[in-house]
Amino acid sequence: MATSNVNSLLLSFLLFGSFFIAAQGNLNEHFDITWGDGRAQILNNGQLLTLSLDKASGSGFESKNEYLFGNIDMQLKLVPGNSAGTVTAYYLKSPGTTWDEIDFEFLGNLSGDPYILHTNVFSQGKGNREQQFYLWFDPTADFHTYSILWNPQRIIFSVDGTPIREFKNSESIGVPFPKNQAMRIHSSLWNADDWATRGGLVKTDWSQAPFTASYRNFKADACVLSNGASSCSSNSNWFSQQLDSASQGRLKWAQNNYMIYNYCTDSNRFPQGLPAECNNS
Ligand SMILES: *[C@@H]1O[C@H](CO)[C@@H](O)[C@H](O)[C@H]1NC(C)=O
Repeated sequence: MATSNVNSLLLSFLLFGSFFIAAQGNLNEHFDITWGDGRAQILNNGQLLTLSLDKASGSGFESKNEYLFGNIDMQLKLVPGNSAGTVTAYYLKSPGTTWDEIDFEFLGNLSGDPYILHTNVFSQGKGNREQQFYLWFDPTADFHTYSILWNPQRIIFSVDGTPIREFKNSESIGVPFPKNQAMRIHSSLWNADDWATRGGLVKTDWSQAPFTASYRNFKADACVLSNGASSCSSNSNWFSQQLDSASQGRLKWAQNNYMIYNYCTDSNRFPQGLPAECNNS
């Protein structure tokens, strides 16, 4: 009796104390400013983070934790007005030369013209899996929630709870899937006017600088790496979550109405045949 109490106490400590970390709130606790010489700031007692870009430099931050799987939400409000030439990148990435990466990139535009939300997935250093979308709202007028659900079977990108992209584990047909390398969250605001807006035709208007993007309400249900080991039981919803039929309907809605580029339909780009995972969706 005493032993089993101790065991269950230990078990709940292991499951809830150490490994499944539900993080929320104070951005100071979860992120470090990594570059930009004062252009990135955590404000309001850790409730708000801002990145800025001017002609001399952009800025960026990264998470203190490394995550191996998770369900991660962040609210972003993008550079308003004439944001042409600017890119706000928000992504997960592991270090090294055969890295894994899950990307959201927001490509700015002239006032009133639509941002492009660019997504990509790298596994073992190989990407080339771009899908791009317009948004169904003005992403500069208010905060919106951008989420990455990453579990061993799939990666789902969502916007305000609407899934826009699913990248399934296709290891069974020989496609590496990110599942062995822990990743940090990274974000940066930088100048990419050689390609970002209308393929580089529209340049950054530096008279509008500084450009600012804002972040708040970070929330991560995730497995956190510590001392080189991340131990995750499957004892959590997101760990085995998949799209139910309602979510599949919303994914379809987003893709039918807002997707503007899909590498899986770009046969000119892949004369030897589309990537294998394209047949598994
Ligand atoms: C910018 O606006 C133009 C014109 O509407 C559009 O073709 C383009 O896709 C938009 N977005 C970017 C990032 O270039």
